[in-house]
Amino acid sequence: MGNPDGGRTEAPRPDKSDLSSLSFATRSVHGGNEIDGSGAIRTPIVMANSYRLPEDPSDMDWSDTEVLSYTRNSGLNQIGLQKKLAALEGGEDAAVLASGVAALHSVFFTFLSSGDHVIVGDVTYEAVWKLLAELLPRKYGIEATFVDLTDADAVRAAVRENTKLIHTEAIANPTTKVVDISAIAEIAHSVGALLSIDSTFTPPPLFRPLDHGADLVVHSLTKFINGHGDSMGGAVIGSRSLISTLRSEAMVDVGGTISPFNAWLIMRGSVTLPLRLRQQMDSAMAVAEFLDQDPRIAYVRFPGLSSHPQHELAAHQFGGRGYGAMMAFAVDGGRDTQNRFVSHLRVITSAVSLGHDESLIVHVGGDARGGSENYPEEFRRFGHLRLSLGLEDPADLVADISCALDETFES
Ligand SMILES: Cc1ncc(COP(=O)(O)O)c(C=O)c1O
Repeated sequence: MGNPDGGRTEAPRPDKSDLSSLSFATRSVHGGNEIDGSGAIRTPIVMANSYRLPEDPSDMDWSDTEVLSYTRNSGLNQIGLQKKLAALEGGEDAAVLASGVAALHSVFFTFLSSGDHVIVGDVTYEAVWKLLAELLPRKYGIEATFVDLTDADAVRAAVRENTKLIHTEAIANPTTKVVDISAIAEIAHSVGALLSIDSTFTPPPLFRPLDHGADLVVHSLTKFINGHGDSMGGAVIGSRSLISTLRSEAMVDVGGTISPFNAWLIMRGSVTLPLRLRQQMDSAMAVAEFLDQDPRIAYVRFPGLSSHPQHELAAHQFGGRGYGAMMAFAVDGGRDTQNRFVSHLRVITSAVSLGHDESLIVHVGGDARGGSENYPEEFRRFGHLRLSLGLEDPADLVADISCALDETFES
């Protein structure tokens, strides 16, 4: 089989009708692209919200996602994207939803019931914090414990009889804490719990959590996988049976379906994922090294720097393919200094998203996020600037930062 992490290890006959015969880059180009009767070589956008019914539809299951009937259940563009994402992550199946948060919610809604317990990384994306610290406990009686997942003993100690799920990010938003997924998978499975990984900061081919024992992978497709900042989407990838349960319990009857147009845009954007990611990761390394040596920078957290607390783990876990393209840092100074620095940037854009073709930065205050008490001390002291590297020439990015620093400290 082709090696999905890069080139080819053996040489089966590559055939685009059998994605398992293709290496990662080829899957990114051809995965899920079906040619219909029109002969168009790219799947057309099908915006119809309904499909023609069979002659006798009276016995149909209106929640069926296999038969095309209604776009909330399934549609041509969703199916293509699902096939591609399953192939890129090495899963049997995938469900695509309206946003990354819809995908995260679908995992919690499907696999947790009232009275169940979930263990969550103590640094996690804000909406996950809110869902698991506040909304699901209050509304549904789900119990959540936030744990430092780099401490295996602490994870074991947090396990309860009713623990059904462990959820984390492979590289956590925003501190870039790196979690050993194989070690956590072992703990989860030893107590009969599932492990779900939000891999938004670590898209394939950088990392494929299912190969490391995870049961479910979640992506905000809005970010690196689409990569062009022009649509929203989310996905959950895993075994056929888990994804089928999730679709019927948390998609069809909850309704967070992706628009066919967004699915089509994400399909198109994802063709260049491996090329974009390689460039973005190279730029991230160059920018992190620049920040690391500049005395006007208070701190920089990027897993590729040897100063990062989990640098060795990241090098091992990501197999030398890279360290992602996300980092956090602060300029030496208070809130006004961070804002002044951002205001002087002329290439990097101040905006909240990440993983786009353009570099994006966002200034987050020291205690502005749920769970920020678990951030390293310097994050709480200075706040942080979350930087997502894009496709610009890294020399322009370094020059932009360098000039903005000069202007910040001149004014
Ligand atoms: C790690 C992570 N997961 C999920 C999401 C949510 O994705 P979306 O904005 O597509 O709902 C984000 C958004 O920033 C994120 O950073």
